[in-house]
Amino acid sequence: MSEQGKLDFKVFKRLIVFVKSYKRILWFSLLCTIALSILSPVRPMVIGNMVNKYIVADQNSNALFNWTMILLAMLAMEGVLQFLNSYFSNLLAQSVIRDIRKRLFEHISAFRMKYFDKTPIGNLVTRLVSDIEAISEVFSSGLIDILGDILALVAVLVLMTVTNWKLSLLTLIPIPLLLIATKIFAKAMRNSFQQERLQVTRLNTFVQEHITGMSIVQLFNRERQEQQTFEGINNDHKQAQINAVWAFSIFFPVVEILSSLSIALMLVWGAFQFMGENQTNGAQMYQDIFQFTLWVNMLFRPIRQLADKFNILQRGVVRAERVFEVLDMQEDVQTAGKEQAVDFNQDIQFKSIFFAYQDENWVLKDINLTINRGTTVAFVGATGAGKTSIVNLLGRFYEYQRGEVYVGDTDLKNIELNHLRKNIAIVLQDVFLFSDTVLNNITLGDPDITREQVIAASKAVGAHEFISKLPNGYDYEVGERGGVLSVGQRQLLAFIRAYVYNPHILILDEATSSVDNESEELIQLATEKLTKGRTSIVIAHRLSTIQNADTIVVMEKGQIVEKGNHTHLIEIDGYYKRLYDIQFAEKK
Ligand SMILES: Nc1ncnc2c1ncn2[C@@H]1O[C@H](COP(=O)(O)OP(=O)(O)O)[C@@H](O)[C@H]1O
Ligand SMILES: [Mg+2]
Repeated sequence: MSEQGKLDFKVFKRLIVFVKSYKRILWFSLLCTIALSILSPVRPMVIGNMVNKYIVADQNSNALFNWTMILLAMLAMEGVLQFLNSYFSNLLAQSVIRDIRKRLFEHISAFRMKYFDKTPIGNLVTRLVSDIEAISEVFSSGLIDILGDILALVAVLVLMTVTNWKLSLLTLIPIPLLLIATKIFAKAMRNSFQQERLQVTRLNTFVQEHITGMSIVQLFNRERQEQQTFEGINNDHKQAQINAVWAFSIFFPVVEILSSLSIALMLVWGAFQFMGENQTNGAQMYQDIFQFTLWVNMLFRPIRQLADKFNILQRGVVRAERVFEVLDMQEDVQTAGKEQAVDFNQDIQFKSIFFAYQDENWVLKDINLTINRGTTVAFVGATGAGKTSIVNLLGRFYEYQRGEVYVGDTDLKNIELNHLRKNIAIVLQDVFLFSDTVLNNITLGDPDITREQVIAASKAVGAHEFISKLPNGYDYEVGERGGVLSVGQRQLLAFIRAYVYNPHILILDEATSSVDNESEELIQLATEKLTKGRTSIVIAHRLSTIQNADTIVVMEKGQIVEKGNHTHLIEIDGYYKRLYDIQFAEKK
């Protein structure tokens, strides 16, 4: 999709709908614009009149003083109007994009995980931040300004013609040249702006990815090569910026020359008038020249800017189209059930479940399993066996294609999503922490959870000691993705999260896998605390952590191959026994 070409009115209309709630602000802004575009062209008339009557004709300093005061008042009023106009148009723009951003974020929040699997995060960030920023310009400096410029142009032209149509024609001679120049440069500038934006994006992406992945860059000694790549991108960026400046620095002098040409033509005309027989009307001629000099400037500036502003408008509409594309994506929105009063303290049943992330590449095949309420079920199996996928289905992050899941007698698909997720807590191997305090990372901003509850929970889980030792205790600011905290510590924070939420169903997905020895014991204890008397699903690499589970489910290539408790599985001497022997041998 290119940012050039015609304005898409369909998208534009859709954008305008968002203004509806802010009609008052829009009208006010329009009013200021209209007043301004009439007031400004009148000012040269006042000045011309002063020149004619009180300087050239008869020198009346009293009247001159009064008119100067009037002129000052006009200027002050223009200033106030300009301020109000810019304030209200920006207020309008920011209000509109706040609404769009809110809608978009809500919409994205409802997407299924499948959508995020296939959409780069950077893409969504661009939609939410910079695309919407460009939309704001449609309202702050596009639409209303264009209207104002056109009004001002018309006003100036009318006043010029009424005052002296011959002189008007003379001063308008360079206008076709200006139009041609604008057309040429608008294209050049648009190209160089596009280049510039492209290079900025490249630079951003490179810097972001390489700072995030700096440990890998250093680990593999890639610093030199990466620096070279960076230098290349950095140079391209510089070149793009310089090119943009080039276009500008030629265009503006050209405009200046053309407007000077207008004034020059006018002066030549004035000189001829003097030589001619019209000398009686000298004062009138001074007045005209004065007025026209000021008007010419008012004429050239808006014409020069119109192309630019139209670009801004167009760009905003193109970006809006991309945002609307995401908003229109309905297929990815979760089909929400309605049941809100399901008791989760019941057995959970998987009945002939088939599931694939894509097409018919079954990741889970014919899964039949009952998880009795209050018991702990452990899943073991090789990486890729489908353990996490089962959990994903239970939380309805993905939809299964065949079979049914029941909570008691209620079909999982009929349960309202919020209600479902309120009752399930999942602790993953890689704990995501937001750049916020420890406390807020535990409560996730839920105001119903008090600090006391959090402290009690962390004592229960056995994490209070380490949190207290952090620089600000519970108010310690965690860096992005957890920064300085160890894997084990982050894991413990996730356990506290789960503990304070007190869910009916607890899922630990390899939560104990990559933890250091020191934390392992703590986490082992925390796990026992958390799973006690609660329906729990524990996925673990270390068999030692799950030996006491009520049921152990062994998975292989998307199927359940063995089921039973530890003693039973050892007895039948199958997959589980082999896994157990391997790990037991490793320990020795
Ligand atoms: N988001 C996804 N999109 C496509 N395929 C996936 C996705 N997540 C997992 N898979 C595939 O599904 C299979 C099962 O994965 P998973 O349930 O994560 O296994 P486990 O948790 O037992 O290691 C693997 O072959 C994996 O590559
Ligand atoms: Mg997994």
